[in-house]
Amino acid sequence: MNKSIKVISLSTKDIFMNTIFHQTVKIIRNEAVGDQIWRIRIASKEIARTVKPGQFCMLRLPGFHAPLLGRPLAIFRADSDSIDVVYAVVGKGTELMAKFVPGQDIEIWGPLGNGFPLNSDKTQWPTRPLLVAGGIGQTPMFLLAQAFLNESRTEKVTLLWGGRDKAHLACLEDFEELAAQFPGRLEILNATDDGSYAHHGFVTELEKEQLDSGEFTSENSCVYSCGPEPMLKKVAELAQNASLTCWVSLETPMACGMGICFTCITKCKDKNAPEGWDYCRTCTEGPVFNAEKLVWE
Ligand SMILES: Cc1cc2nc3c(=O)[nH]c(=O)nc-3n(C[C@H](O)[C@H](O)[C@H](O)COP(=O)(O)OP(=O)(O)OC[C@H]3O[C@@H](n4cnc5c(N)ncnc54)[C@H](O)[C@@H]3O)c2cc1C
Ligand code: FES
Repeated sequence: MNKSIKVISLSTKDIFMNTIFHQTVKIIRNEAVGDQIWRIRIASKEIARTVKPGQFCMLRLPGFHAPLLGRPLAIFRADSDSIDVVYAVVGKGTELMAKFVPGQDIEIWGPLGNGFPLNSDKTQWPTRPLLVAGGIGQTPMFLLAQAFLNESRTEKVTLLWGGRDKAHLACLEDFEELAAQFPGRLEILNATDDGSYAHHGFVTELEKEQLDSGEFTSENSCVYSCGPEPMLKKVAELAQNASLTCWVSLETPMACGMGICFTCITKCKDKNAPEGWDYCRTCTEGPVFNAEKLVWE
């Protein structure tokens, strides 16, 4: 094993049982793929080979003290020796990241978090999963769609994905290529706020249409979602009205990414707690939660 790789084994039940790799590795590619959206490819075969759909990594720029902390980013794609992360430039960390060039080092730790719940007994998997993404929330959906499509029992995956405009639907081609690999089994329906592409309106309007079609039932489907919280709240409400289980991936700001600092807390229902809720750490107990467990504000 490469000497630069530290394996942090956190084996307490309180944290989680995954092996986390902490590495300083090379950037292979880093390029703009949309309006203020970039895609970075990082050489890490350890993370690429162990990541589960919906898990994330923390990225930090070595040698920089501002920002000092890493940034949590979903793992979009994993090939045998590398991972791709797609990120929106929104502040200090991502602005700096966009200036990084191939060959430079980046510090990474992961894979982190629980990921989407995929039962080890694959006969329990939904045969008609419904994926709903908003904005940059498509990033955990590629691996999830791929996992479902690799199972022959999956009849069809439907991905609903809305963005501000066409330029914000970054890396749509990856999903289209995946659909081409699995003819007739990946349906992609887009929405844009400005109507510049596909449905003019919110992605939750597409969700309502799909759920009203009666094609998705509690026997054959679950909803998996990632995006801004107001959207997730609506996605969850529509799923609940249709009696579907809904899993949401939260993008809560984080500092350590592994259960130590409590920066990433969110309120979870807990009938044993005096007020009926307690804090959960999004980095370890999430980022994916059953929507019914969350206290939506
Ligand atoms: C599990 C997880 C997975 C994520 N995956 C992705 C991904 O794949 N692609 C992607 O582009 N982003 C993703 N995010 C969000 C990403 O972590 C933040 O956008 C990033 O940390 C911002 O860093 P910055 O230094 O550029 O911005 P900062 O300088 O830290 O902040 C800039 C502005 O953005 C706000 N902000 C910072 N973090 C967040 C956040 N998490 N949610 C809402 N507002 C925030 C700040 O309040 C501030 O207004 C993910 C977050 C989590 C928790
Ligand atoms: S980010 Fe530190 S505990 Fe979650």
